[in-house]
Amino acid sequence: MSVFELIYLRRSIRRFKQKAVDYELLKKFADAGRIAPSASNMQPLEFIIVDEPDTVDTIFDHTEWARLLPNKTGRPQAGQQPVAFIVILVNKDHETAWIGHDVGAASENIILTAMQYDVGTCWLASINRKKIASLLDVPENYRVDSVIALGYPDEHPVMEPIKDTTAYYRDETGRLHVPKRELYDILHRNIF
Ligand SMILES: Cc1cc2nc3c(=O)[nH]c(=O)nc-3n(C[C@H](O)[C@H](O)[C@H](O)COP(=O)(O)O)c2cc1C
Repeated sequence: MSVFELIYLRRSIRRFKQKAVDYELLKKFADAGRIAPSASNMQPLEFIIVDEPDTVDTIFDHTEWARLLPNKTGRPQAGQQPVAFIVILVNKDHETAWIGHDVGAASENIILTAMQYDVGTCWLASINRKKIASLLDVPENYRVDSVIALGYPDEHPVMEPIKDTTAYYRDETGRLHVPKRELYDILHRNIF
């Protein structure tokens, strides 16, 4: 699949099959994050792969999912939870003003590489950073930025042109619909 096709087909996944993702694959995803663009090439990011089931469960407890959906229906139910996390750490000693850009580039590298191996992801910033840092023994000079949940997808969200709201929703079959603004609404040529 071309990179463009991967980009088009990528959706955040919040229901996963309970099948482990091979550690070598997870390492490959982190490697894709490692070589992402980085402002001044400072490379302040490090990653913790969490694939030990009890630790995955505990991190899961410190995450929030799809806040726009009612009654926590966006949260993966028992039997559909992620099987691994990649925790994105920032080394504060090497952090620049562009850290958000670094994290974004690395995360998208991880997410698209995972997709190429049929592994679904959901990037999560609504997390309890303190609890996760303490659980994983993260040193003082690092901070937890966000986590990427991983696993083989057990749902097939669909992207659609936006109607009146950006809010994603589940239809009567439970399928997630993700509205996106149209290209002609956001693209300008030569002048705004
Ligand atoms: C920086 C960032 C933080 C996010 N944090 C969460 C989160 O905490 N929980 C969640 O369920 N989804 C989270 N998402 C996923 C978004 O909800 C999702 O990207 C958006 O609804 C569009 O859907 P799509 O990824 O399928 O295109 C986050 C996405 C980004 C880029």
